[in-house]
Amino acid sequence: MLRLILAMNMTELTGAVSGPSTDVAAAVDNVTLFLHIVSGLMLALVTGLMLYFVVRYHRSRHPKAVEVKSNVWLEVTWTVIPTILVMAMFWYGYEGFRMLRDVPDDAMTVKVTARMWNWTFEYENGKSTQELYVPVDKPVKLLMRSVDVIHSFYVPAFRLKEDVVPGSESMAWFKANSVGQTDIFCAEYCGEAHAYMLSRVVVLDSDEFDQWMESELPTPDPEAAAALAIMDAHDCTGCHSLSGSHNPDAPSLKGIFRRETLVERDGKEVKFLADEEYLIRSIRDPGAELVKGYAPTMDAPEDMSDEDLGVVIEYLKRVE
Ligand code: CUA
Repeated sequence: MLRLILAMNMTELTGAVSGPSTDVAAAVDNVTLFLHIVSGLMLALVTGLMLYFVVRYHRSRHPKAVEVKSNVWLEVTWTVIPTILVMAMFWYGYEGFRMLRDVPDDAMTVKVTARMWNWTFEYENGKSTQELYVPVDKPVKLLMRSVDVIHSFYVPAFRLKEDVVPGSESMAWFKANSVGQTDIFCAEYCGEAHAYMLSRVVVLDSDEFDQWMESELPTPDPEAAAALAIMDAHDCTGCHSLSGSHNPDAPSLKGIFRRETLVERDGKEVKFLADEEYLIRSIRDPGAELVKGYAPTMDAPEDMSDEDLGVVIEYLKRVE
């Protein structure tokens, strides 16, 4: 019976939506289940004996207390059995931990960069994405860095969680065992938009993955690079996402040009398509016509030259 329960996967028990998983996830679930079962049995045993003794040795039945001398066998039993149980917990947990740290030699490396508030994944051929693409049944080794504060790379379906600490490189690996998608979260509170620091692992079959790797290699884009450098320098991207991910403090810049925009003008709500003038006005005087639903938290960027502003606007026109 115990083996049967252990062989089952926690996802099956909880009936969670099936998606890609890993062998490590199954191992982690088994350890968790084992700990729960042992703890449950111990709780039942201790509580049961306690209740039994309360009744059995109640003063009304047992008016005179007897002094109990030591009992070697009893003491040996209650020392040896818990020792075995605790060693089993250790062994089981240690085996799982070793799986987490021993990266297979044929692993493919992906560099992960965490920042407030998104993830970037860079592949061996220089391709870079905001979502993690991996082939099925292939170990993937993640080398992770943070450019600002402590984040934590968390894929619940893989039972994989590793802190990403500025100034050091952390490592994690996984091997997805089926095609599909699953969520990536940040599991370390890293500021206002921490809860929106979301991404996905997309598991493709190996042919599809190879095709994907070959396709749409990043073409050098000096204009975009220049605009991003200016926006980073003025900390625009700290609040405005470029990926379209939601941040409660600032609208995403993805597709902002010609986006239907609702603002308040002279106490009335006005709806229009964001044009170049509106974008310029929103940068030079951010509080003037706020997009509905946002607070006036932005300051006009200091000393942004008209030339730099032009570069940024041209870039914004094409972030889709
Ligand atoms: Cu990054 Cu929380």
